[in-house]
Amino acid sequence: MAIYFDKETKTFYLEGKSTTYAFYINNFGYAEHLYYGKRIHRDYIIYTRSEGVRSCIATAPGADNVSGQKSFHHMNPEISFFGTGDYREPTVHPRFASGDRLTTLLYAGHEILDEKPAISGMPSMRGGKTLVLHLYDEVKSFGADLYYTVFDDCDVIARRIVYYNDSGDTVKLDRAYSFAMSLPSGEYDMLSLHGGWACERQPERVPLHYGVASIDSKRATSSATLNPFMAILGRDTTESFGDAWSVSLIYSSSFVLKAEITSSGEALLLGGINDFDFEWQLGAGESFETPEVAIAYSADGIGGMSRALHDAMRDHLINEKYVKAPRPVLINNWEGTYFNFTKEKLCAIADAVAGTGIDTLVLDDGWFGKRDDDKSGLGDWFVNEKKLVGGLDGVIEHVHSVGMKFGLWFEPEMISEDSDIFRAHPEYAIGVPDRARCYSRHQFMMDLTNPEVRDYIVNSVNAILGKHKIDYVKWDYNRNVTEFFSLALDSELQSEFAHRYALGLYDICDRIVSANPDIFFEGCSGGGARFDPAILYYFPQVWTSDNSDAEERTRIQYGTSIAYPLSAMACHVSASPNHQVGRATRLATRGDIAHLGATGYELDTTVFTDDDRAAVKAQIEAYKKMERLVLEGDLYRIENPYTSNYFSFMIVSKDKSQAHLTCYRSLNHCNPAPHRVIMQGLDENKQYYIPELNLILHGSVLMSVGIVVNFGKGDFETKVYHLEEK
Ligand code: DGJ
Repeated sequence: MAIYFDKETKTFYLEGKSTTYAFYINNFGYAEHLYYGKRIHRDYIIYTRSEGVRSCIATAPGADNVSGQKSFHHMNPEISFFGTGDYREPTVHPRFASGDRLTTLLYAGHEILDEKPAISGMPSMRGGKTLVLHLYDEVKSFGADLYYTVFDDCDVIARRIVYYNDSGDTVKLDRAYSFAMSLPSGEYDMLSLHGGWACERQPERVPLHYGVASIDSKRATSSATLNPFMAILGRDTTESFGDAWSVSLIYSSSFVLKAEITSSGEALLLGGINDFDFEWQLGAGESFETPEVAIAYSADGIGGMSRALHDAMRDHLINEKYVKAPRPVLINNWEGTYFNFTKEKLCAIADAVAGTGIDTLVLDDGWFGKRDDDKSGLGDWFVNEKKLVGGLDGVIEHVHSVGMKFGLWFEPEMISEDSDIFRAHPEYAIGVPDRARCYSRHQFMMDLTNPEVRDYIVNSVNAILGKHKIDYVKWDYNRNVTEFFSLALDSELQSEFAHRYALGLYDICDRIVSANPDIFFEGCSGGGARFDPAILYYFPQVWTSDNSDAEERTRIQYGTSIAYPLSAMACHVSASPNHQVGRATRLATRGDIAHLGATGYELDTTVFTDDDRAAVKAQIEAYKKMERLVLEGDLYRIENPYTSNYFSFMIVSKDKSQAHLTCYRSLNHCNPAPHRVIMQGLDENKQYYIPELNLILHGSVLMSVGIVVNFGKGDFETKVYHLEEK
């Protein structure tokens, strides 16, 4: 990894593991984009910016008849801005005290830092060499520092912008995006991940058109509706071949990501905090930090782009202590009991699986306050001793006595109307005076923009975690903001609410996680709604979906894996017939699909027969053999359940000495052609032993001839294969 500045041509070359990002400072002082793609030599590439025969829409300010003049519209600066002839989507829209809204941000110097500076109060990637490009508007004493970080072990660039106000007046930021990046003219598709409850992260690929395509959230959360992820693909790019760029926003509140095809056919990608219902008061001498984005590139198609992202998240974003450590194998009581449990029932659930390899019992919703259903108790973080006779410690001691760890559910950002804390402090709930609040799952939300509310949450959650021997926490979040208003903010700051909610969330996550370094945290959000890189910074894994039906999970996990590593996805074996879709599947199938992530179980284990127990024990033994691959391996998505009757994932160790292949067939059909699966990612010259086939074959054979997968009779069948270098 390296960052080079060629003084003569004023060209910056930012080099990642196998990529180059390049721009230069042109004669007018603009930072003009040149290239982002496969690693190239540091040759002179400014020739690509020749103007050609184009209409000049506007000159540089005050520069009539100056040679070398070019329209800003065709210049592709590293930051787009309004009012000087760049009619593309602006990256920033300041409103100065005079009412003037235009800005001209010109090169004012740069620094190359060996240590990447952290963003105060926001999650960001760690490590990497960083370029800080200083751009400044002399007229308005307004600046933008563009941060670019490159890593030597992955093909991702981290970017963000810090805006600052050197003037004596407040500047209002109507828009303050995190980045802008140009791509040369071409035919592009956009790939995004949309969804909803129980059908999270469904990929959609559409052609980009002239004008602006965008995805966003206006919910003060990232949400299942559209993930803060967007990939731009060459029209011919496939899963394994061709150019793929992607943008992952490390942010958990209202966001927007845009792709604009300009009149010259070039593409502009940009985005960050959603500017809908946003205005930031940037006081004299203040700066505004925008959330970071991770931008990936691969010449090896969507699969290569995903692997670049997986590496970047594992090595530079997710908590180092936990990211590659074996994960707890859970039994969660939610689908086994819902709210209807007693101490005896929980102990029996643990007893039924003790010794199988399941190592942690997670007590889900309903252990606190007055909470026998979802209508009350949120915010009252004290143990319901009427329900749990002997308190939490009675359950915890029993669980520990059978050799298991103990985990506990919280929903710290929520408050029930029927709770002691709401009765004492109704102002802790988000709401607008004189207006009735919207309910969602019968609950309201805590006003995280208010420091007193944050202190209450941190103190009450930390008190429980400090008092009991808790090894694991599941942090749930089951509704979205409706009334975007805080009693704690002055009227002119109300449009800062959604971003301040995110800052409040990060504050409580940071204070709770750092006070409990030995507790493993899992994120959750009414299934997997808030599954984003910012949440992964605090919580190494996230509950992927309340839909744990194996058939449905092949699609949800396929889509999620496009932007997130397998180890980030919590995947459970639940009851059959499945509670969400009513489908019956074999335990083996459910296990094989749930093993493609951080695995666990979520059903009433007290009904297990001896055979069930033995099967679960065997499943976990099998999982332990592939766990390292799940935590660290390279994922190859071989068969796509959205476009075929099959799903297969192959995970290969970094040194290509081991691999695991899981194949799944949805519906069985009579007299089928032999189902050939062509592997990927192996070393052509290595020989691999496959015990399930009792064969030793070269990587070249497995990646060209493949294997024939003989599924058994019936629907929803799986086959798994282990590959070991001979
Ligand atoms: C939604 C989660 O997705 C479930 O796993 C469970 O924790 C419930 N909330 C509890 O209310």
